[in-house]
Amino acid sequence: MPNTFGKLFTISTWGESHGGGVGVVVDGCPANLPLSEEDIQPELDRRRPGQSEITTPRKEADQVQILSGVYEGKTTGTPISMLVFNKDARPGAYAEMKEKFRPSHADYTYQTKYGHRNPEGGGRSSARETIGRVAAAAIAKKILTLKSNVETLAFVQKIQDIAMPSMDAISSAAIEANIVRCPHEETANAMIDRIKELRSQGDSVGGIVECRIRNLPIGLGEPVFDRFEADLAKAMLSLPATKGFEIGSGFEGTLLKGSENNDAFENRDGEIRASSNRSGGVQGGITNGEEVYFRVAFKPTATILQLQKTVDLEGNETELMGRGRHDPCVLPRAVPIVEAMANLVVLDHWMRHIAQNDSFKF
Ligand SMILES: Cc1cc2nc3c(=O)[nH]c(=O)nc-3n(C[C@H](O)[C@H](O)[C@H](O)COP(=O)(O)O)c2cc1C
Repeated sequence: MPNTFGKLFTISTWGESHGGGVGVVVDGCPANLPLSEEDIQPELDRRRPGQSEITTPRKEADQVQILSGVYEGKTTGTPISMLVFNKDARPGAYAEMKEKFRPSHADYTYQTKYGHRNPEGGGRSSARETIGRVAAAAIAKKILTLKSNVETLAFVQKIQDIAMPSMDAISSAAIEANIVRCPHEETANAMIDRIKELRSQGDSVGGIVECRIRNLPIGLGEPVFDRFEADLAKAMLSLPATKGFEIGSGFEGTLLKGSENNDAFENRDGEIRASSNRSGGVQGGITNGEEVYFRVAFKPTATILQLQKTVDLEGNETELMGRGRHDPCVLPRAVPIVEAMANLVVLDHWMRHIAQNDSFKF
């Protein structure tokens, strides 16, 4: 099932950048959840193209339609299918890319693996595929909001070498207060200037999205293959343009000694808590009740408006000038997508935890 993610709350996405549309089938959603397009649209609005001067100018309203699984405003327990039509496709911009491979994009590997591909807008490798994930995760978020106080917040922590200072308290309002989605205003302004500068040179830039999940219960995650952090890593690295994942003290933690890295336990007013959180809220693959925090590295956008060396379908060396409408930096739009994947992992693992540990009691 190469287009399906999740074990109990499953999503199957479909569609290409310049095809008729993109969408998702969500299976395993509990019945009787009040649900309408209004629950989904705000999340899609956060990821849609054309939302600011530092994203791709492609004009898509990304209006979602729920086709199945909802009756009289409530879910029925049957598959929920959701659809967004592609409206602003410009296939002409990709004529040359049909013959020549874009460096560091998916063109060469798709062509070699399948022998036939849709080059328009990158086809299935386009980030438009993530519309289905965000739509599905809006349902997961609604369930988590109604049944818990779990809060998932992602934000842009770094663009190239411009990093925000470490901040404990981060609010959704501060993240959404600027177009780059960095909650530290001064850093956000420097990031925006850098993105604009590189875009004016026909270039692109990458960076790091950090995500924090608060108020998770203890016990989510499986001890071996489906460790909570392993599934988070898979979820994040399944996103286009990702090149790295770290949780808790991550790669920096390798510089510490065990005595410095360990999170000492303490009894805080009758509650067992960790006095520090270098584990990133996961121990032995299972959440320990502390905040889960992780970082995802996104590379500079592959399609740049500069002449680059490449080869054509016959293997002849040639040059390619990038065309079409592209994000000079994918990170501002990646923020809601990272949150979406995190919420899908949380809900799926929560359902699995309940199914195994809270349903049949012996
Ligand atoms: C939100 C978002 C927007 C993106 N926009 C573009 C884009 O405009 N142009 C482009 O070449 N790649 C863009 N990408 C990245 C490509 O989809 C990705 O590089 C491509 O699928 C190849 O996969 P890989 O980079 O993971 O190897 C975007 C990625 C994300 C997450």
